[in-house]
Amino acid sequence: MKLTIFGTGYVGLVQAAVMAEVGHDVLCMDIDQAKIEQLQQGQVGIYEPGLAELVREGVAAGHLRFTHDVAEAVQHGAVQFIAVGTPPGPDGGADLSGVFAVAEGIARHRSEPVIIVEKSTVPVGTGDRLKAHIEAQLAHSGKRLEFTIVSNPEFLKEGSALNDCRRPDRIILGGEDEAALDLMREIYAPFNRNHDRILCMNLRSAELTKYAANCMLATKISFINQIAELAENLGADIEAIRKGIGADPRIGYHFIYPGCGYGGSCFPKDIKALIHTAQEAGCGSDLLQAVEAVNERQKRKLFQRIHAYYQGDLKGRTFALWGLAFKPNTDDMRDAPSRELMESLWAAGAKVRAYDPEAMAEAQRIYGHDERLALMGTPEAVLPGADALVICTEWQVFKAPDFELIKRQLRAPVIFDGRNLYDPQRLARKGIHYFAIGRGESLQLPLPGRARVLTD
Ligand code: UDX
Repeated sequence: MKLTIFGTGYVGLVQAAVMAEVGHDVLCMDIDQAKIEQLQQGQVGIYEPGLAELVREGVAAGHLRFTHDVAEAVQHGAVQFIAVGTPPGPDGGADLSGVFAVAEGIARHRSEPVIIVEKSTVPVGTGDRLKAHIEAQLAHSGKRLEFTIVSNPEFLKEGSALNDCRRPDRIILGGEDEAALDLMREIYAPFNRNHDRILCMNLRSAELTKYAANCMLATKISFINQIAELAENLGADIEAIRKGIGADPRIGYHFIYPGCGYGGSCFPKDIKALIHTAQEAGCGSDLLQAVEAVNERQKRKLFQRIHAYYQGDLKGRTFALWGLAFKPNTDDMRDAPSRELMESLWAAGAKVRAYDPEAMAEAQRIYGHDERLALMGTPEAVLPGADALVICTEWQVFKAPDFELIKRQLRAPVIFDGRNLYDPQRLARKGIHYFAIGRGESLQLPLPGRARVLTD
């Protein structure tokens, strides 16, 4: 089947590569000419395990092509996926200018019947607005075009995007046109083999399903982070509580890991957008607002703890940082807790020496050559002479470090852990001041200068 995909960001490129892999004839279009030229040469600018290889295989097999030419892209596919960015606008609502620009291109250059698929996360009602917009444009130009809109939200997770697309939990199709939905079923047949994962619903339900999924997940995280704060202050241990509640299958173990807050390209943006949608619709958004507020607070937690530990005296100190990406297996630093932390430390006069297995280039791109940030080549290289080690991302490589080395290299044996990687009692026995999230035990250690440090 001939498919066009607009937007070669995360969602578009992964979708394109996976569709080409099963034999669809995929043409990708992006307004960024430099990016298209790189992709034509098999160079993939985003880090996602297996993606670069899959793109190169698709290109070599002739199933995957890239263009900068809107007319060529529009003429290609019987089905056209819109996977362009929808960043938050100034009022918290999604900025849909990219989505509408694609729709205008289709109205202008297409003459054969076409199914337009919303792949980007777009506010409820966007499908209807797109339809009206295209109809108005056609009426204006006196052109006829048979088109229909289908919502097909994407649920991939960065870091496991290929697997999520090849073996989706569910494939949501929203629309009113049965023939179009049947064609979509055919396109997705290779991903729907063992049991039917396709759920058809109306356009607006499909649009809202995507927000509901992400906001539910964000709610779980803010919930556990709020309980973590309670646990911390009451001398309880959130790690025991997490297991205790996760054992109930109605709650489950997934997505209740406490931490230094959620980040990334989806949760923060989607919560804001759904609050905005709810307000526009005259509905309550109090729960969503609380989820966002708890997360904003959580992202400040590591800094506040550091600030309290040094009694506000941060000027001239250096902090070793493990983890820049918003989560492991990605180089993405959008809304990453590490950024909030680093920026607060800098504002307080401290410096940061950081290591991340994948996000170093991204940090360089964001912060340039800032003398307050030194990017080092190994986890160990950030340690010598630093006042403390801070952990923002739970990469595998940080999970079993050489604690003796850490103790020897740091100016004082202090770890602030935003991901609860270590056992507080074990670290206490080693004489390390260890501060984790929601672990009362880790806070009972004496402060420096006030009492003895526990040793083996
Ligand atoms: C998310 C959704 O999972 C995906 O379905 C959707 O399509 C896009 O948004 P992604 O942004 O890639 O995917 O990241 P995800 O793995 O969901 O993690 C989001 C954030 O939540 C990360 O910052 C992560 O560290 C944090 N998180 C996750 C927690 O703090 N605790 C948890 O238990 C789980």
